Amino acid sequence: MSKNFYITTPIYYASGRLHLGSASSTCFCDSYKRYMKQLGYDTRFMTGLDEHGQKVEKKALERNLTPQEYTDKLAERAINLWKYLKCDYDKFIRTTDPEHVKEIQLIFDKMLKNDDIYLGEYDGWYCVSCETFFTNSEVGEEHICPSCGKKVTTVKEKSYFFRLSKYQDRLLKFIEDNPDFIKPEVKKNEVVSFIKGGLEDLSVSRSTFKWGIPLLNDPKHVVYVWLDALFNYLTGLNFLEEDNSLYKKYWLNGKTVHVVAKDILRFHAIFWPIFLMSIDVPVNYQLFCHSWFLMMGEKMSKSTGNVIYPETFVKRYGLDSFRYYVLRNFPYAQDAVCTPLDYIQTYNTELVNDFGNLVSRTLSMASKYFNSKVRNIKSDNEYILNFEKFLESEIENYHKDMAEYKINNALKDINNIVARTNKLIDETMPWALYKEGNLELLESVIYHLLDAIRIESILYVPYLIDSTEVIFKSLNVKDSEKDLCNLNPFTKEVYEVGMLEKPLFPRENDPEKAKNEILVDMEEELKKDI
Ligand code: ME8
Ligand code: MG
Repeated sequence: MSKNFYITTPIYYASGRLHLGSASSTCFCDSYKRYMKQLGYDTRFMTGLDEHGQKVEKKALERNLTPQEYTDKLAERAINLWKYLKCDYDKFIRTTDPEHVKEIQLIFDKMLKNDDIYLGEYDGWYCVSCETFFTNSEVGEEHICPSCGKKVTTVKEKSYFFRLSKYQDRLLKFIEDNPDFIKPEVKKNEVVSFIKGGLEDLSVSRSTFKWGIPLLNDPKHVVYVWLDALFNYLTGLNFLEEDNSLYKKYWLNGKTVHVVAKDILRFHAIFWPIFLMSIDVPVNYQLFCHSWFLMMGEKMSKSTGNVIYPETFVKRYGLDSFRYYVLRNFPYAQDAVCTPLDYIQTYNTELVNDFGNLVSRTLSMASKYFNSKVRNIKSDNEYILNFEKFLESEIENYHKDMAEYKINNALKDINNIVARTNKLIDETMPWALYKEGNLELLESVIYHLLDAIRIESILYVPYLIDSTEVIFKSLNVKDSEKDLCNLNPFTKEVYEVGMLEKPLFPRENDPEKAKNEILVDMEEELKKDI
């Protein structure tokens, strides 16, 4: 089996500053990529910006900028944010990249030649915010976008149409034959019933504004922004370039996962596979569709403005806490809510009390009782044996959850191991063993604590980017002892450890006051311009 792995975020609209919601998808992909690397995969991670279309054009005009000037600013801003969050992508794609533009033109041409596209006229509803066409019954009497709730506009213009209906049965069959195509299962069921309701041909060009990729055969038209955007996943692999080795390696001979949230499920579960079928590219990806971070009961979103920016939390509690929080509360199938108090509570409980404390307590016990040199003393102590068993089974759970993209549960699994390690301290009471002079059992306990911390840190590598490095240094472990595939629990011969220079996670002592300061900061961040 090939060990190539390609993971993508949606390419976010260049229509405003990116927030905690967008960051949750990108952090998910980055951590997942790091996990797959740990498993020995050759990975590629791509993110980027969706820069064409009416929505972006409108935003630019509001600011008296050309669309290109506007998207240049936003691209820079996005790149800085991902750097700040240590989201380590291999490629940042922009749909205004000349290579992308050229490939989209060729792709459209190919669809036209295959007779999958024909010229007609679109007369109906359009949501600029979602860049989506809707039918009468979908917008209802109030003319409201069923997806985002904003007012839709009418569009009447010449347009090229894609024969979606032609592919309906083939897509249903494909989904049936590939039960893991869409994860989780509930999202798949939604898609299937939507397709069964009947697919209408899709308008794939616009002719009443300019900000898009012109058609080769009819340059008065620009490509519909979703057709343009979806193909980023291929053009980012140099699909139609002379050297298309990335495409061959990752798309044809690897595993690909597109990570999206439910707002854009249909585009990725219906349009995208059909477009691929149309140009004879294998539908060789898995779609992981997550839910939303809400704010005040609604989806946190650029256009509503009900957002929290990652900076607010990162500057107070550090990057690791931010990545931990958004993934620990990741909206897998259910929506999630992020509030300052909940953030502080998770931070204080799981990072400060459970993990941070465990590390500092253990290192100081190692120093106090054994002068920081602790040997691997075997023991048949019941507490220790139970602990070893628990650790093993919970690591299995961690991998199972990751395989299902249940990253919130996966982090809970690690936290369970940490909590169980703390429990070993309560059970064995090292200070009492010391008093009794039971140094053999004491050394075995401390050794087990140290090795458990080593293992927990390996598990935490994709999330706690900075802290795990600090811990590995203090534990003095070699690179070969940081291998997720060869954890070798409780076999390392001896630990010669150091101390932490400062607490890994300083406690928030006054959550109520902190909450208020955070609320003020959220307001301040909102005032900052792109
Ligand atoms: O849809 N909670 O761009 P977009 C969780 N350009 N995830 C969220 C979120 C929230 N509150 N808000 C945003 C587009 N996201 C198109 C995509 S892809 C070929 C084109 C994340 O800027 C989530 O991944 O509206 C969601 O699907 C995406 O940002 C939408 O970003
Ligand atoms: Mg959106």
